[in-house]
Amino acid sequence: MLQMLRSAFERELRDARIIDEVRRTGNRYLSGKTSHVRNFFAYLSQLGSIEKAAGGMLLNELKQSLETALHTRLSSFENKIIPFEDTLPGTPRVLGRRHPIYQTWDEIARIFLKLGFEVEVGPEIDTEENNFTSLNIPLDHPAADAFDTFYIRAPYLLRSHTSPVQVRAMRKRTPPFRIIAPGKVFRPDDADASHLPSFHQVEGLMVGPDVSFAQLKGVLLLFAREMFGRDSKVRFRPSYFPFTEPSAEVDVSCFLCAAKGCPACKGSGWMEILGSGMVHPKVFEAVGYDPEATTGFAFGMGVERICMLRHGVKDIRWFVENNFRFLKQF
Ligand code: PHE
Repeated sequence: MLQMLRSAFERELRDARIIDEVRRTGNRYLSGKTSHVRNFFAYLSQLGSIEKAAGGMLLNELKQSLETALHTRLSSFENKIIPFEDTLPGTPRVLGRRHPIYQTWDEIARIFLKLGFEVEVGPEIDTEENNFTSLNIPLDHPAADAFDTFYIRAPYLLRSHTSPVQVRAMRKRTPPFRIIAPGKVFRPDDADASHLPSFHQVEGLMVGPDVSFAQLKGVLLLFAREMFGRDSKVRFRPSYFPFTEPSAEVDVSCFLCAAKGCPACKGSGWMEILGSGMVHPKVFEAVGYDPEATTGFAFGMGVERICMLRHGVKDIRWFVENNFRFLKQF
């Protein structure tokens, strides 16, 4: 009988998963007003003196051994050997999210996919030919300076823009086609509020027998309206790129001040978002197309820049500092 009580007690102690459960078990067997041990003592008091003496000895032994077992179990909790505790709330995990640069990249891609563009991917390590010469940038020409880059070992280099993907796409495909090429690009610039040695661009290219500058304007206007709001306007300023002719820098009307002039657009009402133009005949020649029979437009935009304009981010370096307080706002 007493032996059974002892093993039942020990089993319950073993099974208890939290310290309160151990204490409750101790109460039920030992210290509580109606505990098993107390009940036995009460029963004992009703017996004759011989039984009392014999039973008392056994009962005291039992009581002592239960107390020892209880204290051992209690101290196992104090020593923090706590088995898995499934009644406490769990440690909350912070859910990650897409980096703001890639959110913007996704958004840009989404807009052009709706317009029928396909995504073309090129390598981050490319050749001098694709990065420069096929794009009508002679290596020894001052125009190459604007696209200077890190060399792996000549002729291999880290591409300084996504325009080499234009060359790759044209060699691979037959017109008509339209593609965008998002990706990382590299330039030997020191990091400051508006420069990083590695950033992202999205290239666009549409090639066919009669692609016009008017189509370029239409596509970029649709893009600006989707990206920056329904009332956005675009403005084309004459510019120069060796691989497009004519070339234009494109501004979008400042959506923060409705083009009235504010600190974000430096009072001008316009924000520059990309470079563009009609594909240069020399580029068509380099990829084996007939420049007389082929037309096309191309554009290239900086993803960081667009993201900064959309969200009013003042320093491009914030994107790469891994500061959670910054990142979790997006
Ligand atoms: N590649 C140019 C740059 O990095 C952008 C551009 C792309 C301009 C396509 C015209 C056409 O600045």
